[in-house]
Amino acid sequence: MNIRNSTPADLMNMQHCNLLCLPENYQMKYYFYHGLSWPQLSYVAEDHKGRIIGYVLAKMEEDPDEATHGHITSLAVKRSHRRLGLARKLMDHASRAMVEAFKAKYVSLHVRVSNRAALRLYAHTLKFEQSEVETKYYADGEDAYAMKRDLSKLLDECAQPKRLFLPFRENQTIQTPDVEIKEENEEEELDNDPNTTGFTAYAEDNLIKEFKESANVS
Ligand SMILES: CC(C)(COP(=O)(O)OP(=O)(O)OC[C@H]1O[C@@H](n2cnc3c(N)ncnc32)[C@H](O)[C@@H]1OP(=O)(O)O)[C@@H](O)C(=O)NCCC(=O)NCCS
Repeated sequence: MNIRNSTPADLMNMQHCNLLCLPENYQMKYYFYHGLSWPQLSYVAEDHKGRIIGYVLAKMEEDPDEATHGHITSLAVKRSHRRLGLARKLMDHASRAMVEAFKAKYVSLHVRVSNRAALRLYAHTLKFEQSEVETKYYADGEDAYAMKRDLSKLLDECAQPKRLFLPFRENQTIQTPDVEIKEENEEEELDNDPNTTGFTAYAEDNLIKEFKESANVS
């Protein structure tokens, strides 16, 4: 099983999963609204054949009077794949993306007062706190708990500068006789390596130079 950011191609399957799992259903344009406005925030869980078995549909709230925060519009995992930790992971991915992309201070959601599984997930596992009861929030008249999860710790973590891992610097034990460098492939390999994308050509040149120096190769 795999969790990944959703793409527009997933939206139909997310809607299908929603129809199987929840009475709160949405038109396809509402899924597109989320996918096009906040493509970073929604995630899917897929099985080994790439079939969608769960999703979280998320957005940012845009009320200028409130602190920047995200909102979970919908979350569901197919019955066949429950209690495997997928919902927790989907929620964690969405929350982290809210912080990284939008510096969200907290994430909010609504849950039926009778939804024991979801309530335990939110309150016990994910440490959401109940902020208020919204009476007759749902179309059938059921009340909702409005809940919030503070993301400030995650925000602090994301604000810490990440240490750049430079294998040439970290590994001082490179043995020169075993190192074989194929000059003609070197630049191509760096270009294709996702870890180096974003490096400037200048930085790449320096790293190559540094590698050759540490490997004692001219
Ligand atoms: C609620 C729901 C999303 C949970 O999905 P899930 O992938 O099974 O949840 P996880 O495996 O990540 O569970 C994490 C924790 O949540 C709690 N939890 C999840 N399902 C539970 C259940 N049926 N009863 C009690 N606690 C439950 C447990 O604390 C669990 O940890 P544990 O398995 O170590 O005990 C899933 O049951 C579902 O899709 N329900 C229908 C749709 C729905 O209600 N969505 C939420 C709308 S607000």
